Amino acid sequence: MLVMRNVHVPLQSGWERRDVWIEGGRYRRITPPEHGDFISGARVVAPKAGFLIPAAVDPHVHVREPGYDYKEDWESCSKAALKGGVCAIFDMPNNKEPVTRERGLLEKRAIALKKSLVDFGLYVALTDGNVDEIKETKIQKLISGVKIYMAETTGGLLVRSDRALLQVFGQPKPVLVHTGGAEGLCRILHFYTKAKKRVGTLPVLYICHLSTKEELTLVEGAKREFLSLKAEVTPHHLLLHRKNYEEYGSVLPNLGTPEDAECLWDGVARGTIDFMGTDHAPHTVYEKKKKSPPAGFPGIETAVPLLMTAFGERKLPASRLVRFTSQAARELFHLGDGSIMPKNSASCVLFEEGEWEVGGGYETKCRWSPFEGVKTGYRTLLTVVRGNVVYRDGKFNKRRVRFITA
Ligand code: NCD
Ligand code: ZN
Ligand code: ZN
Ligand code: ZN
Repeated sequence: MLVMRNVHVPLQSGWERRDVWIEGGRYRRITPPEHGDFISGARVVAPKAGFLIPAAVDPHVHVREPGYDYKEDWESCSKAALKGGVCAIFDMPNNKEPVTRERGLLEKRAIALKKSLVDFGLYVALTDGNVDEIKETKIQKLISGVKIYMAETTGGLLVRSDRALLQVFGQPKPVLVHTGGAEGLCRILHFYTKAKKRVGTLPVLYICHLSTKEELTLVEGAKREFLSLKAEVTPHHLLLHRKNYEEYGSVLPNLGTPEDAECLWDGVARGTIDFMGTDHAPHTVYEKKKKSPPAGFPGIETAVPLLMTAFGERKLPASRLVRFTSQAARELFHLGDGSIMPKNSASCVLFEEGEWEVGGGYETKCRWSPFEGVKTGYRTLLTVVRGNVVYRDGKFNKRRVRFITA
């Protein structure tokens, strides 16, 4: 039995102090804080100003292994995840050898089962020629979704075939799209509309990393027509702008203006934007300092503490943060209700409130952050995955992980 004494938990009414009892992988009791310090037979954690929220689920991660494991691998990436309060990650297919077939998925799954400290799922990349294979059971049982690149980015995976872009909606797994901007977004919506006339139930269409007001407006309009349309934003598109950021060069999509960022925050507040995806895309400092650096920022280690801080500053309710970082993705991947309530599976992160800034001691192999020097009001004390303490005060405890194929 693990008991977290007198921690703030996000309830309908806002943050409330509770004692949270975890046993057998689940929340057992959530009670008003008790007095007295002795609870027999229990391991008690009682931080000074603890904030406990459901651990985040990150639908957009580039782990890099196999192929680019000098930048990041399954061990370093999953440690960065745990330190950031993330209990499950979903890995993109733009590896050195793109993951487009069964063999690539099997290879990656084997590595991750051995090395990952967090639960994980995998995506397959759509190509001009593999849509029929993706529909087959042998691939369906290995994937959590299909990724489409409609524009150039790291990995050079571009889909041009109209047939592929239509047929992909004839399979049931979520379809995640790197649109490259408004034009690509309109294009994929065109195929989605066309598919609606042919198939009964459409799979979820998941628009990755919204970055401009224009894209947000398009998504908002299309959502009136499609309940199964979902959108993601990254912490860096919310918290950094083009203006205040040059040092580490590019990321795709490019950082927007401060006005774009404000619009994206509105989208988060209103619920037009469903998911936080970190788009954790590590490249080495050496690569980033080159004349034409690869696009991408690491972010999984810092996302939730920074967002906790920003939600507080913007007076957005804790319940919205939980939807945005955890609940929406849990629903997408059928992971069950993760809210801090009796009987639910207990994956959570305990933060300490205080004053820190991002920098140093990174778990990510690339060892830098675009948020270096940014102030943060929270620091991870403890991460629990399905009832097991897997991270505590800088130390990791490897447990059997789960391969997710919802
Ligand atoms: C990503 C990467 O490095 O794999 N880069 C990026 O700038 N976001 C690819 C991507 O998500 O587009
Ligand atoms: Zn992308
Ligand atoms: Zn701003
Ligand atoms: Zn990405």
